[in-house]
Amino acid sequence: MTKTMTGNVTASTIGAVLHSAARYDLLVWLLTLGRERVFREKVVRLARLQSGETVLDVGCGTGSLAIAAKRHVGATGTVYGIDASPEMLARAEKKARKASVEIVFKNAMAQALPFPDAQFDAVLTTVMLHHLPRRARQLCVTEIRRVLKPGGRVLAVDFGLAARERKGILAHFHRHGHVKLPDMIKLLSEAGLNTVESGAVGIRDLQFVLAVLDNHSLPPMDLRDENI
Ligand SMILES: C[S@@+](CC[C@H](N)C(=O)[O-])C[C@H]1O[C@@H](n2cnc3c(N)ncnc32)[C@H](O)[C@@H]1O
Repeated sequence: MTKTMTGNVTASTIGAVLHSAARYDLLVWLLTLGRERVFREKVVRLARLQSGETVLDVGCGTGSLAIAAKRHVGATGTVYGIDASPEMLARAEKKARKASVEIVFKNAMAQALPFPDAQFDAVLTTVMLHHLPRRARQLCVTEIRRVLKPGGRVLAVDFGLAARERKGILAHFHRHGHVKLPDMIKLLSEAGLNTVESGAVGIRDLQFVLAVLDNHSLPPMDLRDENI
């Protein structure tokens, strides 16, 4: 069952909000060469999600990562996804229902997260930061820090190359933005989050940063399915 707590976010939304949800999933399929599941599992593993944890996916889009996260944290864990686009959320809810996983999706802005302080063990945000203008990006990261529990962690993933630096036919047709790795690390650091790992995700030019609030040690990485 999927719980819905969808409100309305329209006029005040800032950022490149997407509305063509089915087309978005097709694009992801093309960009990952049909290996989206591998990508999502890799992200979940990099984030060190543990059974029973409370997780937030910021800019969750059509919910694929939130679904992978819920499978990882299990019945005792809770996953929330927020997005500014009602269309993306509608598709996310449909996909979660089909996958028989319970996820709380909310229509909200990344720069004003509708959660109390210190609620989450982990916050994920994949290919979302480049959708936000600079100031909104800073607000979003400040909000992520606010909702993290002490010792909580954030995994941010984004494209690392500008359009002119990318090669291939897909790069020609899909001219998305990017956030360079040092800029992502700086952004998180300015919000008080300490980078503990960073590098290439291993899919296209996607880069990740794993940062923690305070100097807590990381939970172990789940090495099951390492080769998927
Ligand atoms: C490229 S998609 C990524 C979706 C998902 N994270 C994924 O990995 O497939 C970026 C998402 O950010 C959302 N978005 C853009 N600006 C936003 C904002 N200010 N607040 C919340 N979501 C926003 C868009 O609607 C879109 O669903």
